[in-house]
Amino acid sequence: MSKNENLNNQNHLNIGGVDVLELVKNYQTPLYVMDESKIRKQCQTFMTSFKHKSVRTEVIYASKAFLNIAIAELIHEEGLSLDVVSGGEMFTAISAGFPASKIYFHGNNKSVDELKLALDHQIGTIVLDNKDELDRLSSIILKNQKIRIMLRINPGIDAHTHEYIRTTKNDSKFGVSIFDPKTLFLIQSIHNHPSLEFVGFHSHIGSQIFETNSFKELAITNLKYIAHIKKQLGIEVKELNLGGGFGAHYTNEDQPFSLESFLPQLLDTIDLTSKELDISTPKVLIEPGRAIVAEAGYTLYTISGTKETFGGKNFIFTDGSMADHLRTALYQAKYHAAIGNRIHDKAEKNYTVTGKACESGDIIIKDIMLPIPQENDILVVYSTGAYHYSMSSNYNRLLKPAVVFASNGKTKLVVKRETYQDLIRNDLRLGK
Ligand SMILES: Cc1ncc(COP(=O)(O)O)c(C=O)c1O
Repeated sequence: MSKNENLNNQNHLNIGGVDVLELVKNYQTPLYVMDESKIRKQCQTFMTSFKHKSVRTEVIYASKAFLNIAIAELIHEEGLSLDVVSGGEMFTAISAGFPASKIYFHGNNKSVDELKLALDHQIGTIVLDNKDELDRLSSIILKNQKIRIMLRINPGIDAHTHEYIRTTKNDSKFGVSIFDPKTLFLIQSIHNHPSLEFVGFHSHIGSQIFETNSFKELAITNLKYIAHIKKQLGIEVKELNLGGGFGAHYTNEDQPFSLESFLPQLLDTIDLTSKELDISTPKVLIEPGRAIVAEAGYTLYTISGTKETFGGKNFIFTDGSMADHLRTALYQAKYHAAIGNRIHDKAEKNYTVTGKACESGDIIIKDIMLPIPQENDILVVYSTGAYHYSMSSNYNRLLKPAVVFASNGKTKLVVKRETYQDLIRNDLRLGK
């Protein structure tokens, strides 16, 4: 636990200097709380560590991890660019006033409408995934328009992480393989297109990566491919985007490496390898999502009861569910939690924490030692800032929680709690 989570005398957890019970009193549960200072600090760590005397760099926040108007504003204030993967993410960023020139539009299946939205708003860079996307873009781009293009390539590197969040094995749905001869034709077509400015490659090997070697291997493989393109096609690749995937701490099994020491080393390796391969060192971009927001996030639930099954399993029932906490059901992700209003109490029993959804897989934490719960205790689940709010759903017509930023003892409501009216807003009658 970091210093920001100072515990006060009353045995309560503080988040961003705000007592957990005050948060619950003012905003109810389930509630997503983000420690704003922690997010800003992570942004600054990336911005200051990903610098090099002779390599140009750019840090892009992968907004899929957590996006709403307030975070887009914060990311812009901290000087990062933004990665969006859908019309919805793009619209949110534009509505927040995020500069379009600093937006990267990703995704493996961009629709014509989404591509038009990107062109209309003069989005800075489109990251094409495949030939169909190139054809779609070519069919709508006007002669007087010009847009920067990166191509998502798949270097076939196996990041040691969960299968669902691993993205560059040869059969991944993302990008085009560097081993496929057709990729050369695709690069040539983009390069020759009068309205497209081909600037470089993008690749992303997966998420929750704890070994630095995967990133080094990715960089070196991509640089060799850049040298190959120079030799085969005479095309200079100016930019290389290495994606995100930097690991975050959820439980003590997770040991993220130090960004401060690794990022400069990675840039050194890239500079040196480029020289060895006799290519100009490309500008290097990275796209962290989780590493910026995961550890800043806390989900607060009210415990409404417990159940010991006939088979001997002990459940804690909360007012949340897989609708606001999907990653355990989706990837068997592990989490740490505490009773926020009795933080010093001894953990006495092993529990499975569940919620209200009508699924046996509705598990928030499968296996955790906690104090014996009392009714209306507040369960705080740590490290829920990434892929929680953004993956939340209305399954079972459950309402999406509010999102609050807390810092320096103050709070700001940044996303309102949904109401039952919100649930039926788009429903239409049969009309009989
Ligand atoms: C293209 C791309 N960039 C960046 C990210 C961010 O990954 P992470 O949140 O693990 O840093 C993802 C995650 O899926 C991605 O697909």
